[in-house]
Amino acid sequence: MTTRFVAPSILSADFSNLGQDIEMINESEADYIHCDVMDGVFVPNISFGIPVIEKVAEVATKPLDVHLMISNPDPFVVPFRKAGASILTVHYETCPHLHRTIQSIKSEGMKASVCLNPHTPVHVLDDIIVDLDMVLIMSVNPGFGGQTFIKNSYKKIRLLKEMIASKNPKCLIEVDGGVNFETGANLYDAGADVLVSGSFIFKSDDPVATIRKFKSL
Ligand code: DX5
Ligand code: ZN
Repeated sequence: MTTRFVAPSILSADFSNLGQDIEMINESEADYIHCDVMDGVFVPNISFGIPVIEKVAEVATKPLDVHLMISNPDPFVVPFRKAGASILTVHYETCPHLHRTIQSIKSEGMKASVCLNPHTPVHVLDDIIVDLDMVLIMSVNPGFGGQTFIKNSYKKIRLLKEMIASKNPKCLIEVDGGVNFETGANLYDAGADVLVSGSFIFKSDDPVATIRKFKSL
């Protein structure tokens, strides 16, 4: 059975009315709220951090799926748990001691997820996949919303699906970047379980209907 989860990314929300956009997600069929944290070092952009996540958590009725695009995530595992993260994603490229980082996320009671940049091959997860709740495949280079989907991501998802089937069938595959109805349908076919979508949802005329349609692609 395939999971068809949707995680709207609030990177494309209206930050001057963030509470309203969170309420919209609460009322929709979305499964998670995707929160993109960027430090201006690992990625060439700065977004928002712990104080904003805390406020989002006060309003949100859906689990917070926090994507850390920061160069040194280890000291921030506990602060993000305290801020309200349910799922914490770290980038493979930022974690020299990934096993330790994953254990620390799980020991805080959060779901642990690892993200791969477009150039990072899936096989680097061979010896850590058994410990993961989710893998996030970046289908654009991280740092900005509204970029074009990188088609090589489909191949990575199929490879990852095989690895997961043989080693840890409960692990979910999430995909982030350039997701719309067309790429989304292909991604579910390739084996994705969770679609992140920012600009496509928030720029649509009826975001609640757009989220609903993602669930039935
Ligand atoms: C990019 C972020 C994404 C971003 C996706 O670095 O990780 O979550 O919000 O935006 P869209 O859906 O517009 O490509
Ligand atoms: Zn993201």
